[in-house]
Amino acid sequence: MELGNRWSLRGETALVTGGSKGIGRAIVEELARFGAAAHTRARNEAELKESLQKWTDLKLQVTGSVCDVSSSEEREKLIKEVSAIFNGKLNILVNNVASGYIKPVLEVTQEDYKHTMNTNLEAGFHLSQLAHPLLKASGRGNIIFISSIASLEGTTFMSVYGTSKGAMNQLTRCLACEWAKDNIRINCVAPGVINTPMAKWFYV
Ligand SMILES: NC(=O)c1ccc[n+]([C@@H]2O[C@H](COP(=O)([O-])OP(=O)(O)OC[C@H]3O[C@@H](n4cnc5c(N)ncnc54)[C@H](OP(=O)(O)O)[C@@H]3O)[C@@H](O)[C@H]2O)c1
Repeated sequence: MELGNRWSLRGETALVTGGSKGIGRAIVEELARFGAAAHTRARNEAELKESLQKWTDLKLQVTGSVCDVSSSEEREKLIKEVSAIFNGKLNILVNNVASGYIKPVLEVTQEDYKHTMNTNLEAGFHLSQLAHPLLKASGRGNIIFISSIASLEGTTFMSVYGTSKGAMNQLTRCLACEWAKDNIRINCVAPGVINTPMAKWFYV
């Protein structure tokens, strides 16, 4: 029996942040191939449009538009739009967006620190809060945080990135305890190095 026939996400809805490239794009495509209606956001309009065209050609049910999830106002707008698109219900939220850089601790500026923590941790925390009513309304909600092996291992030059991902692991545990009563399952995936635009420095 084909995999798609054994289980399906037909009728389910998904929001994946940062789906225009890298791991996020692979997640969008996998969810859509299993039948989910997916929505995604990214900052670069040209790249997003290219991905949306590709998904249309593949007959995958994916929508998307431009948004910077490091902005609190844009996060609020995003969830309002997702609520309108999916009629107030969301089954799957994938908090995938992150930013990172390779820098020794003593060269990290306050701005670097704030931007990384905001993009990698606060955005996922706030989007989860905003999406809670939609996830609860779906009857079986899921949040997946995309963490990193850098949250589990000591590394050089990735102090703030690793710290943001370590906090994300703990946030996963706390939300899983708090929101089980609402039938919302929370998980976290911590990949190793994957060949994406973000990890380009590993492949040069
Ligand atoms: N690649 C690895 O080796 C690796 C390893 C462990 C964990 N991870 C984690 O996996 C996740 C995805 O990483 P990746 O390697 O696929 O990254 P990537 O190739 O840089 O892709 C990131 C995606 O997020 C979007 N994005 C970035 N900042 C955004 C923002 N502020 N607002 C909205 N969209 C934004 C990007 O589009 P725009 O640039 O157009 O906004 C793009 O679609 C991250 O959480 C990362 O920490 C990656």
